[in-house]
Amino acid sequence: MNKVLVVGLGQLGLPVAKYVKERGFDTYGYDISPKAVEMAQKTAAIGKAIDFGEFDVFILCVSTHKPDDMFSPQIDGLLSVVEKISKEAKSGALVSIESTIPKGISKKVFDTLNHRMHVVHAPHRWYSLEEKEHGVNQLRVIGGVCDCCLKAGMQFYGGVRVDGHSYSSSSSLKSLGIPMHPVKNIEIAELTKVIENAHRYLQIAFAEELCLYCQSNNINFPELRDNPVL
Ligand SMILES: NC(=O)c1ccc[n+]([C@@H]2O[C@H](COP(=O)([O-])OP(=O)(O)OC[C@H]3O[C@@H](n4cnc5c(N)ncnc54)[C@H](O)[C@@H]3O)[C@@H](O)[C@H]2O)c1
Repeated sequence: MNKVLVVGLGQLGLPVAKYVKERGFDTYGYDISPKAVEMAQKTAAIGKAIDFGEFDVFILCVSTHKPDDMFSPQIDGLLSVVEKISKEAKSGALVSIESTIPKGISKKVFDTLNHRMHVVHAPHRWYSLEEKEHGVNQLRVIGGVCDCCLKAGMQFYGGVRVDGHSYSSSSSLKSLGIPMHPVKNIEIAELTKVIENAHRYLQIAFAEELCLYCQSNNINFPELRDNPVL
């Protein structure tokens, strides 16, 4: 697992590619936008990939919602990348979907790849305004389509086995060093991301309602919010 391709070099993919490179992997990038590829080359010396034949790991970070509506999924871009991987990549490679996806898509990806590659879903929780706390290497959930997929994913991301033990220090296995929470069923990984987003949305909506209430009742909202009892 040395040669890694990050597909989709946008807000999420570029920091992912930088991180993977910093961890010592031979890192390349691919994007339908030549601008994104150029930016990755210039700012992070990320190599440009042409065909997918040589890679051990594919990290998919393409956009997965409609351009004009972030609440509606659109996964054709992701599926077209998977088609290309299916035609060009070598058997046994690891395909990690970091994009946000609806339930059931990981298994569809595995089928499209004719079960020739390991497929994991390790949805990202990146938050650009708090990169230190919510950057690439924060705790993440991970699920695999099969047990062997999860094993390969845990090795690549955390350098640990599914049972929580590290791979032997004498082995030369490299990893991303990210704390991962493995789940037995890949749909749980898919749902975890969507539910985390929905939960945050509710919290923000609640806080905004409270803020409006405070404004109309002449109450100091920051003082209420920073109250340690709440
Ligand atoms: N940005 C975040 O803060 C964040 C956080 C968590 C999860 N995510 C998830 O990560 C994924 C990517 O989000 P983003 O914010 O980086 O989006 P983005 O729009 O900034 O970047 C997506 C990149 O994918 C490329 N792309 C689209 N279709 C492609 C294709 N078929 N082949 C190759 N490249 C293609 C685009 O050109 C673009 O550069 C989404 O699923 C999003 O939900 C994003």
